[in-house]
Amino acid sequence: MDERRRRELLAAMGIRLWQRRPDRLPWSSDRDISTESPAGSVEFPSSPTGPWEFRLEEAPIPTSQGVPASRLDWEALQARVAACTACAELVANRTQTVFGVGVRDADAMVVGEAPGADEDRIGEPFVGRAGKLLDAMLAAIGLSRRENCYIANILKCRPPNNRDPRPEEVANCLPYLERQIELVAPRALLAVGRIAAQNLLGVTTPIGRLRGKIHHYRGIPVVVTYHPAYLLRSPLEKRKAWEDLKRYRRLLQS
Ligand code: URA
Repeated sequence: MDERRRRELLAAMGIRLWQRRPDRLPWSSDRDISTESPAGSVEFPSSPTGPWEFRLEEAPIPTSQGVPASRLDWEALQARVAACTACAELVANRTQTVFGVGVRDADAMVVGEAPGADEDRIGEPFVGRAGKLLDAMLAAIGLSRRENCYIANILKCRPPNNRDPRPEEVANCLPYLERQIELVAPRALLAVGRIAAQNLLGVTTPIGRLRGKIHHYRGIPVVVTYHPAYLLRSPLEKRKAWEDLKRYRRLLQS
């Protein structure tokens, strides 16, 4: 490999190669190189091409610090969420953040409330009993998180004892979901449960009145349905949820 190529490759790894002037060779003078060399420098006096100093540069890590969530790409957004410490109580109680799951350019996107105990443990939305029901509901209209649907929550951290998210927690976390929606750019959104629907739409209307119509979030049609955890407690409402799912399917197909 020629010398230029070698330098380019090392530079790409954050390693700069310096050739020392002979008068600064530490082994040929009484100067103490450690007081002159940058931290982390290593001398290789036996280098075949001459006396080299390898310096590990400050790695050129792309940092998104200071960049608003609304401008982050998927990787930076996920890293931002994982490092988020905005809500002290949630941070103190969480095992991990729960970012989202599924196909990142899907036509269908489901918005839930917040992770529960199972999601907090596993790191994926809707993996508990309610999640199994949600998967079955989605499968009934041809959707799955593995193939053609993205799923995310209003909150990325589990509220202690599954309490409702607090307004300030929603305010802290919503920019992450907003960016996820922007990146997925779904044809239509399915909001499951009161908390998801009200916070997504910025309303306080009861879920019973939000169901049955098509709403819009930044121009994207939104269908509201019951949360699968509620449907587990109130199975008679599944009939209404089926109507919602069919409405959602029609939107996706339109
Ligand atoms: N309930 C939700 O709203 N989201 C989850 O991820 C799990 C349960």
